[in-house]
Amino acid sequence: MTSPVFDRLTALSEPIRVRLLRVLAREELAVGEVARVLQTSQPTVSRHLKQLDEGGWVLRRKVGTASYFRLAYTDLDPEARMLWDLVYAQVEAEACDPASQYAEDLRRLDGVLAQRTGDSEELFRRLGGRWDTVRKELFGEGYVLPALLALLPPGQVMADLGCGTGAMLPLLAPVATQVFGVDREAAMLEVAEERTAELGNVTLCRGLLDALPLGDASVDLALCQLVLHHVRELPPVYAEVARVLAPGGRWVILDMIEHDRDEYRETMGHQHLGFSEATVRALAGDAGLAVRAWRVLPPDPAAQGPALFVAVLVK
Ligand SMILES: C[S@@+](CC[C@H](N)C(=O)[O-])C[C@H]1O[C@@H](n2cnc3c(N)ncnc32)[C@H](O)[C@@H]1O
Repeated sequence: MTSPVFDRLTALSEPIRVRLLRVLAREELAVGEVARVLQTSQPTVSRHLKQLDEGGWVLRRKVGTASYFRLAYTDLDPEARMLWDLVYAQVEAEACDPASQYAEDLRRLDGVLAQRTGDSEELFRRLGGRWDTVRKELFGEGYVLPALLALLPPGQVMADLGCGTGAMLPLLAPVATQVFGVDREAAMLEVAEERTAELGNVTLCRGLLDALPLGDASVDLALCQLVLHHVRELPPVYAEVARVLAPGGRWVILDMIEHDRDEYRETMGHQHLGFSEATVRALAGDAGLAVRAWRVLPPDPAAQGPALFVAVLVK
């Protein structure tokens, strides 16, 4: 039995296989594309790819009848990766000479890729499941929530009740005519003030949830995010939100579902260990509000707190 080191050396002993792996380190390619880059026949490419595939050097992805290949760099065992790094560094050094075969390979790779440009069907066929990664690299993830908020009906007056440091206000402001942020803590409102200084349609008010500084029927959309578990007496708050909501107005409550973390009473001053759907329905009914939706949210795997629910109440 030969030692695996000789199998690895054999795999990299042919210049064409090193050239092939080098272009596959840059791009995922079909057999025909590799053949055009290396200026060789497809059967020759297939033969070498088969050998590299068996040795674990390449990853194959099937799309219909076509196969796409790329270097299996992160899946290589550490010894193979060290060997590849060594060979690759020397080849790249030689590629600095524009007349070298390696420089020529990359020019033809550019040409092959350029032929794909503009063909979005080909792009998405090739990317498949990797599109999620590409999208994140190109655009990040911060746009998702602001984009989804565009689904809200335009022309609404909104109120973030217990707004704290005002994290939600810059998200709500672009899709509202007017946003009120209400909180009883001056220290929290100071941060919210800084955060919203540039937003012309945000008004911050110091006030209590059971005595809101807002007019009757003046709000289309109210939000209480992680606030109500701090409030001992809930019926006056429900009645007060019902007062400020316009007919047909909605109140979105986001909070913890019932839990048993008793220590939160001591450590964070929680008055309620979450809420059950039955409790929310009973409080809403007594205030003349209907519960339109109740949903337990999927937990964030990184989150340490209890699960959250979102409820939508309508006047
Ligand atoms: C846990 S923080 C949540 C802040 C913000 N909604 C968020 O999600 O980041 C709770 C906020 O509610 C405010 N709050 C608690 N009880 C209140 C009451 N009765 N009236 C007004 N604000 C209150 C607190 O001052 C605090 O800023």
